[in-house]
Amino acid sequence: MKKDITTKKDIETLVNAFYEKVKTDETLAHFFAHVNWEKHLPLMYDFWENTLFYTGTYRGNPMKLHEKLHHIKSLSEKDFEAWINLFVTTLTQLFEGEKTELAKQRAISIATVMKLKILYPQNFVIQPTTSN
Ligand code: HEM
Repeated sequence: MKKDITTKKDIETLVNAFYEKVKTDETLAHFFAHVNWEKHLPLMYDFWENTLFYTGTYRGNPMKLHEKLHHIKSLSEKDFEAWINLFVTTLTQLFEGEKTELAKQRAISIATVMKLKILYPQNFVIQPTTSN
């Protein structure tokens, strides 16, 4: 039986394993070709620690960063699908349990919102009503 994600060390294991796969993934690797891993990995540990354990350790704005990334290297439906598949595969190979399920849900929902906002931004324009 696999263990659940309970410590920061578990998060580091998950994030490291995910990016090891990303580095050789035919769809995703090119996005990360120039990444400074020494900087990126600790940010991702903080992001996932905050997402799963509400520690307040991550204060960035991933949505904005990925919108910028999309202008430099276009993101597609296929890229988001590959990201979700790889993340969920890594997660379920290593862990199981309540926090693991939460990580799966969060990954899928954040990736889905990110995809919709980036690929279909027109759907997020809120039209003010003219009547009072
Ligand atoms: C097709 C999907 C995705 C691609 C190609 C992608 C790629 C990237 C790249 C290239 C960076 C910048 C690394 C650097 O230069 O430091 C980054 C940062 C990041 N990504 Fe993604 N990403 C994707 C989806 C996601 C999703 C779904 C999440 C969250 C669940 C996520 C969370 C983050 C975070 C937290 C950062 C660091 C932001 C910061 O600097 O504060 N990414 N991503």
